[in-house]
Amino acid sequence: MKRVMWIAVALAVVAALAIPVLNIVKGGPRNTQMSSCIDPKGAPLAARLEPKCANCHADGTPLPFYANWPIAHSLVSADVSKGLRWADLGREFNRKDPPTVSEATLAKLERVVSQGTMPPARFVALHWNSSLSEADKAAVLGWIHETRRSLAQASLPDSLAIMAVVPIPASVEVDSAKAALGEKLYNDRRLSGDDTVSCASCHDLAKGGTDNLPVSDGIRGQKGGINAPTTFNALWQFKDFWDGRAANLKEQAGGPPLNPVEMGATWDGIAAKLNADRPFAAEFKASYPEGFNSDSITDAIAVYERTLYTPNSRFDRYLAGEKSALSEKEQHGWATFQELGCATCHAGKLLGGTSFELMGREGDYFADRGRPTDADFGRYNHTKNQADRHFFKVPTLRNVALTFPYFHDASARDLAAAEKTMAKYQLGLALSDQDSADIEAFLRSLTGEFHGKPL
Ligand code: HEC
Ligand code: HEC
Ligand code: HEC
Repeated sequence: MKRVMWIAVALAVVAALAIPVLNIVKGGPRNTQMSSCIDPKGAPLAARLEPKCANCHADGTPLPFYANWPIAHSLVSADVSKGLRWADLGREFNRKDPPTVSEATLAKLERVVSQGTMPPARFVALHWNSSLSEADKAAVLGWIHETRRSLAQASLPDSLAIMAVVPIPASVEVDSAKAALGEKLYNDRRLSGDDTVSCASCHDLAKGGTDNLPVSDGIRGQKGGINAPTTFNALWQFKDFWDGRAANLKEQAGGPPLNPVEMGATWDGIAAKLNADRPFAAEFKASYPEGFNSDSITDAIAVYERTLYTPNSRFDRYLAGEKSALSEKEQHGWATFQELGCATCHAGKLLGGTSFELMGREGDYFADRGRPTDADFGRYNHTKNQADRHFFKVPTLRNVALTFPYFHDASARDLAAAEKTMAKYQLGLALSDQDSADIEAFLRSLTGEFHGKPL
């Protein structure tokens, strides 16, 4: 009897030792491999992490053989699908746009590496060489800081530049003549088919750059299908729209005028109306000799939108070293926001706007909410890739006190409700009343200044 047991133990040890080898043997070509990262700055790091992380963080990575054993199977597949939901490192390291991975992924990696939580302990127990060495950790953190430095504005001191969340720049250079034209167009109802709706109707600067409605009112009283995000600080959004279908502000500005539910116009119709306004047409030609067309109009609006930034929030002053700019409650809220993991997705200068993330990492938000809509599919609507189902661009939290109601479906009427939903569905946590109130106080300190005056 004893001998049988020992043979079993010996076999188990041999099996455990063989796992890393099997991982390599079983590995075939995959397009979501971390190590197929082509960015020279990220590739060495991706290759370093792949053997230790890809099993759970890159789709299509062959599983270790024991994954097919009865009990192991459910544990392993739970880890894998959860790992992918939390951080799809395979896709992230194969992004086409710089930086190599999103600022959100940088923040996620920084969090797990500095806390020493990855790979999970039960994985390390089976994969004897999978834990991160001190050299691995230093390489990851050094690369994170280097990437952040490359993204930061030059004037930012190094101690700030390497942080996950950074202040908004105090000024942005724009062509002021074009911006003035863009401002007029942004407020001009002639951009709509029946002269009733302007960009400002749905993105009112007096309402935090939104309309404070669950869904917007388009021409002829038509209702939109998704909550209108703010135009403030949109110049720094990595993509535009909840599903990221516009690459930049100029491309974005081409959407609403032709959208039948929003402004319902045609470019020829708009140009004809604007050309009839002789003084405006002459002024416009001084900057755009070609006159009014889809290209020049959207360009001018995009230039104007580059002036819609809101620096100098109390939070930014606090980050820059003015400790008294935040009350103790607000400082505690900021600390809690980081500790719980909110600042991973809500990273960068916008506290958002750097990545697409799954709405419902820790629970089926959509099943619980009910009333499904097409908009719920999120980024999938644009890419038709199943992996993008229910992924949304993380909204900015800048001026968030003013941009209610919240979420793409406007399901949260106030900040307390939004925080509770985030904690539950993104982090699997129940927020205490105290933490919720502190985080709310912190979020309210994110309201910035526009043209030198508090919003
Ligand atoms: C056995 C599967 C498994 C392996 C291997 C693994 N992870 Fe994870 N990872 C998970 C799971 C599950 C989560 C979800 C959070 C949790 O359960 O702690 C996660 C979460 C993460 C997150 C998101 C953290 C956040 O706060 O959003 C990052 C980043 C991450 N892992 C990085 C790594 C890195 C780097 C490695 C390799 C050194 C690694 N993981 C190895 C399963 C794994
Ligand atoms: C009828 C209301 C309405 C009008 C008019 C309108 N928008 Fe929007 N805007 C929205 C909605 C709703 C969205 C979100 C749509 C989506 O993500 O699918 C949006 C999204 C945006 C975004 C993306 C912000 C982000 O973070 O992704 C920008 C920028 C923007 N609009 C600017 C404009 C400009 C410029 C105009 C005028 C040319 C305009 N909008 C006209 C309702 C409107
Ligand atoms: C996994 C990434 C992720 C984490 C972690 C996360 N969020 Fe979010 N957050 C999102 C996404 C995605 C949305 C948009 C969801 C939607 O519209 O359906 C969002 C929306 C919000 C909004 C609404 C903003 C608006 O304008 O609509 C607030 C407020 C918010 N989050 C706060 C928090 C807080 C507080 C935490 C921590 C308790 C947190 N988030 C954690 C990804 C995340």
